[in-house]
Amino acid sequence: MKVLVVGNGGREHALAWKLLQSQQIEQVICVPGNGGTASMVGCQNLPLEVDDFERMSQYALAQGISLVVVGPEVPLAKGITDYLQAKGLMVFGPIKAGAQIEASKAWAKSLMQEAGIPTAKAAVFTEAAAAKSYVKAQGAPIVVKADGLAAGKGVTVATTREQAESAIDAIFQGQFGSAGEFVVIEDCLIGQEVSVLALTDGLTIRALLPAQDHKRVGEGDTGENTGGMGAYAPTPIATTELMARVQTEVLEKAIATLRNKGIDYRGVLYAGLMITPDGDFKVLEFNCRFGDPETQVILPLLATPLEELLLACVEQRLGEMPPIAWHSGAAATVVAASDGYPGDYAKGKVITGIGEAQAAGVTVFHAGTKLNEQQQIVTDGGRVLNITGTGENFQQAIAQAYTGLQFIQFEGIYYRRDIGHRVLTEG
Ligand code: AMP
Ligand code: GLY
Repeated sequence: MKVLVVGNGGREHALAWKLLQSQQIEQVICVPGNGGTASMVGCQNLPLEVDDFERMSQYALAQGISLVVVGPEVPLAKGITDYLQAKGLMVFGPIKAGAQIEASKAWAKSLMQEAGIPTAKAAVFTEAAAAKSYVKAQGAPIVVKADGLAAGKGVTVATTREQAESAIDAIFQGQFGSAGEFVVIEDCLIGQEVSVLALTDGLTIRALLPAQDHKRVGEGDTGENTGGMGAYAPTPIATTELMARVQTEVLEKAIATLRNKGIDYRGVLYAGLMITPDGDFKVLEFNCRFGDPETQVILPLLATPLEELLLACVEQRLGEMPPIAWHSGAAATVVAASDGYPGDYAKGKVITGIGEAQAAGVTVFHAGTKLNEQQQIVTDGGRVLNITGTGENFQQAIAQAYTGLQFIQFEGIYYRRDIGHRVLTEG
């Protein structure tokens, strides 16, 4: 099989890496890919925009691509699956109507309310004055969200009323473009976040191992929100009992409600949960894709060949598959970022030590990297590398990731030194 992977992050490098471990996969083409996918044996990059559906379909049809796997939300929300399927291609990722579950927070909220899925109380506004009087009535802390896709930057957890008001102004003044036509304001929840990614063929739903991301840029979970600074799996706070409840109270309800709306949702359904201090949970958001960096810790633990699962979703026969098999132990990934991220940062800095890190046992997934004209790996984004360790337990996996990191160098490297602090201190 030849597989085309759409995207250029650490998630897509991990997908390509996992796919290439299977005997069935002859080649992976990443669109547009990064420095890691360009240098991996069996993998090559195709320099197209992720929303250039026409050229992508021409290439895929000419090259006999058996499966297209879509990483990011933007092409899904633009209807990449609908487009490529209409050309006769097999595509893993929901259709445009299904991607609304991530592309519109107001739509997702109303789906959750309709389905009876536990979530924070919320209200939707189309203008600032009404939004602000709601904030005044509710009081802080309160959460202000731009409705649409905002690359993870559209959410403000406001600790004061003033902060909430300026977030409302920023959204309605167009900071997020058309993503800011609506504002969702919801109760602030306290607790630990868990990412539950599930595979679905529109009928059957199989959850993957639960993972925990580290969204804040600073140690001790301080500072700005980012795309994610590190992750580990399987997160122990998501117990078997909790996962059974998530299956019936969240995932099955969401898929059934989508089906009632005539939406045949096939792909990843990612539920971002807040586990509240009383051990209960609420859904913060849904995503219509694999998480990044969660995928980088889930896939190293997956024992079932990935392409078998993805094809079963596309062909709606997930229910015929045996239970997903996992390796025992744990995985952890630490994001090496460019100093300044999630704000401005430099690009083009030469990266050294990747080979030495790999020799020390870690898997290095590239995110914001590229090959320069001298064929050197250079930085090309805010989140640069995901240094991923595995082991019999969290201690080993985390220690391996940090040991590997010691070999990695580039000007302005920044990473959190406390990834996994919860599992290391709380057991
Ligand atoms: P979202 O894109 O909706 O997941 O929001 C991004 C991040 O904002 C989440 O991962 C949480 O850290 C935070 N967040 C979102 N909604 C809430 C909420 N209701 N209460 C507290 N934090 C939230
Ligand atoms: N790690 C968060 C996300 O993928 O949205």
